[in-house]
Amino acid sequence: MKLWGGRFTKPTNQLVEEFNASITFDKELVEEDIAGSLAHVEMLGVCGILPKEDVARISEGLKTIRERVQSGEIEFSIENEDIHMNIEKLLIDLIGPIGGKLHTGRSRNDQVALDMHLYVRKQTVHLVELLVQLQEVLLNQASQHVDTLLPGYTHLQRAQPVRLAHHLLAYASMFERDLERLVDSYKRVNVCPLGAGAIAGTTFPIDRQYVAKKLGFTRVYDNSMDAVSDRDYLVEFLSISSLIMTHLSRLSEELILWSSEEFQYVELDDAFCTGSSMMPQKKNPDIPELIRGKTGRVTGHLLSLLMTLKALPLTYNKDMQEDKEGVFDTVKTLTGSLQLMAEILKTMKVNVQRMQQNVEQGFANATDLADYLVNKGIPFRKAHEIVGQLVLYCIGKQKYLLDCSLEEFQSFSSEIQADIFERLNPIAVVEARTSEGGTAKAQVLKTLEQKQERLTKLTSWLSEHQVEV
Ligand code: ARG
Repeated sequence: MKLWGGRFTKPTNQLVEEFNASITFDKELVEEDIAGSLAHVEMLGVCGILPKEDVARISEGLKTIRERVQSGEIEFSIENEDIHMNIEKLLIDLIGPIGGKLHTGRSRNDQVALDMHLYVRKQTVHLVELLVQLQEVLLNQASQHVDTLLPGYTHLQRAQPVRLAHHLLAYASMFERDLERLVDSYKRVNVCPLGAGAIAGTTFPIDRQYVAKKLGFTRVYDNSMDAVSDRDYLVEFLSISSLIMTHLSRLSEELILWSSEEFQYVELDDAFCTGSSMMPQKKNPDIPELIRGKTGRVTGHLLSLLMTLKALPLTYNKDMQEDKEGVFDTVKTLTGSLQLMAEILKTMKVNVQRMQQNVEQGFANATDLADYLVNKGIPFRKAHEIVGQLVLYCIGKQKYLLDCSLEEFQSFSSEIQADIFERLNPIAVVEARTSEGGTAKAQVLKTLEQKQERLTKLTSWLSEHQVEV
């Protein structure tokens, strides 16, 4: 007999049992579900809706079930459809019909919303923690490579030399924004839907604030219909996650390029690479490749949920059961990706010489020659043309700007003097970019320091937001 079997005359079709059930995946919410029920039943007692003895027996029963789940004794069943009814059925089997009082003043609609809020809240804090750890590794690598130069690229063509720290700090900026987004989303996640009932509230004199406080929520939903049908916080979670994966994917792409024989900028640690079953010489960057690849599925989960929600009338519709697997898979994917990216960055070797060599062999200092001419009073557009011709000349002679003699320089512009050789040196080129946010040492060090300070603030946010449920 189903928990809702009263108005039915036939058993459920076997295909329906399997198609309808969510227990195969929502068992992930078991801890949240029991914690929510414990808070709910305690409130029912405090408000005089259930006698204290019943509350005590139900609470004891729930705790026993929790222990049995943790020790792996419990097998959930498809017949009981989802985690909520599985737990309720186990409770009734354990303590008898009194267990049937647990669901007083509650619906699975506000219950499942509560479970997901608790789950996403816990995962948000955990992801902040993992991002902070990744950021620490990134800032540490940046601080070790303030004086390492490499070509900066646009269109994947050598553009202007930059400090490796500057390049890494660009990623730190992305992850810093991701951290801000997660922290900001927390306030919309940390809202309690319980007490909305199925849709319109309940006739029992419940105390929603009591439950909210007990479970660490800052406030309750102010509209029962919104409480049971809001999935915005899940869309937001998947959206932030997609963006984090996109940032990890761009970084992965650079590591894949940089570890190729063509670039040779970094060597990834053996522990994070794999070999080829056929080609003995191969060492493949599978992990960055997989992070890049898995970005597709996380973004897919975001689109999938948006599609599921787009035409749903108020309030709860069974379509909403489809909100879970994508979220669970996203948590698993993102957790692994963040942990592995931190390890890869921590253990990789940077080939400083190779980067320096590529800075010298190229025309990454061409803009500086144009700027030099501008400082002599030549309009930038004209200076650009002169340097363009000079570059073309060098390509013809198979050499770089610094290989030219002063006479060669002067045959393109009489304004060029002997100080040009000093000015076009890679380090001088980098140091000349003193504008705010530029790649000169003082600017890079300033940014590094600011990012370290922000990280310290996030560490204290984390210690204030450690939740037990
Ligand atoms: N398993 C359901 C879900 O995940 C729980 C809520 C079911 N509510 C209902 N009225 N059938 O959405």
